[in-house]
Amino acid sequence: MSDSLSQVELIRETFHYQSRFEGSTMVFKIDFLVTEDPGFPYLMKDLALLAQTGFKIVIVPGARESIDAALKQHDIVCAYGAAGDEREPVRITAAQALPFVEMAAFHAATRFMTCLSASRVDAVIGNFVRARGLGIVDGLDMGHTGTVDKIFTDSISRVLNLGMIPILPCIGWSPAGKPYNVSSDEIALAVSAALGAIKLFIVSVQGGLRRENFSLPQNIETRDDGSIVQLTPQEAEALIASSVKPQGLKELKLALRASRAGVDRVHIIDGGEEGAVLKELFSNLGAGTMIYADEYESIRPFRGGDVPDILRLMEPLMQTGVLIRRTAEQIQEKKDDYAVFEIDGSIHACGALYDWGENQGEIAAVATDPFYAGMNLGRRIVSYLMEKARKNRMNRVFVLTTQTQDWFESLGFREAPVESLPERKRQVYDQSRKSKVFALELGRG
Ligand SMILES: CC(C)(COP(=O)(O)OP(=O)(O)OC[C@H]1O[C@@H](n2cnc3c(N)ncnc32)[C@H](O)[C@@H]1OP(=O)(O)O)[C@@H](O)C(=O)NCCC(=O)NCCS
Repeated sequence: MSDSLSQVELIRETFHYQSRFEGSTMVFKIDFLVTEDPGFPYLMKDLALLAQTGFKIVIVPGARESIDAALKQHDIVCAYGAAGDEREPVRITAAQALPFVEMAAFHAATRFMTCLSASRVDAVIGNFVRARGLGIVDGLDMGHTGTVDKIFTDSISRVLNLGMIPILPCIGWSPAGKPYNVSSDEIALAVSAALGAIKLFIVSVQGGLRRENFSLPQNIETRDDGSIVQLTPQEAEALIASSVKPQGLKELKLALRASRAGVDRVHIIDGGEEGAVLKELFSNLGAGTMIYADEYESIRPFRGGDVPDILRLMEPLMQTGVLIRRTAEQIQEKKDDYAVFEIDGSIHACGALYDWGENQGEIAAVATDPFYAGMNLGRRIVSYLMEKARKNRMNRVFVLTTQTQDWFESLGFREAPVESLPERKRQVYDQSRKSKVFALELGRG
């Protein structure tokens, strides 16, 4: 593909994601150290651009180092104490520390405001968090350290609907107006869950998780630079249990909790890397780590004994010529390529992904039980196969179709020339069927 054509592809791809995510809420928990990185203004420019194009952006600034500095300046030492359950230890905020904590929290939030102003995006630093004191935990008085009691989603939504960016400093207030120091991780988690955010970005200066910090099972995908591409919550849990170094552990624990709280995709990224957010959102070029909820629980790879069910689904379609004819032996031979959708122990949809080399995969033999038509089984099996293609380092999937082009188009596939197929596929392409080629470049999803 020529450079200008690949740029056109990229623009199309961007529009595709843009329309898919437009109007969705994304939460950004950004560490204070990121605000000191030379890349920070560029990160904020990208967030401003996203807000201007219709994404709903919420920012939760971390303030740990800002608070450390303020307390040190006034010779105040604060201990850390366990906050209970799965949470990280939190700073115990003594009465004399509280004014400096508040000052430092707002100082951090203001840095975001400043950069957004430069991009002419309106932002509001607000009292969107109701908090309550942690009280005495294991005999330790946590002072003015609090936890999230409630997120004022109505107020945040009003701000978002005006096209503004709400900024939530790490302070919450009790119903009586008493301020508490609340961990920004807790706020990010609570606001993501309360707003039903489709994504939470955990932005630090160290970025995505790295292979060397964990004892990694074989099936976890890593990039050449050692960064981990993506994990299911189950994989994340196993990694936490087997971590060999502390780097990235705090972020991974937060990501896992967010994922369990219903956030579909959590991205751990490097705030200093130029364009890191855009790369994660719009392409598969990102260097971050994504923890994604497993929406494919009812989809599984082929098992011995599935052939009769697959043939039952495909037979009427083979008879009408919608699908090409396959025998039980041919399916058995390609068994590793098949996936099936199982509901209550029986199979209601199937599909296959064939690897033709050149980093391209063919999605084929997609069939759903007519009694289950229109229940997204088809879409989900195709996205499962696309996810499998990504894991197998493919960067493009295609289908050959005679009657289902509109459906594949609705999934983002676009017509492509036969010449774009991998060489091995071109050699066996059956001219007489006159199938059309529809293809999709694989981004992050
Ligand atoms: C195409 C197919 C897999 C869709 O399965 P499904 O589980 O019903 O699809 P989903 O629930 O994900 O999507 C349903 C939507 O797709 C539309 N749709 C279904 N088949 C379509 C087709 N051939 N062309 C255009 N749109 C189609 C439905 O009208 C519905 O639209 P709506 O959401 O606006 O109501 C299924 O109809 C099928 O088995 N077709 C025959 C086999 C085939 O063509 N396979 C692809 C070649 S590999």
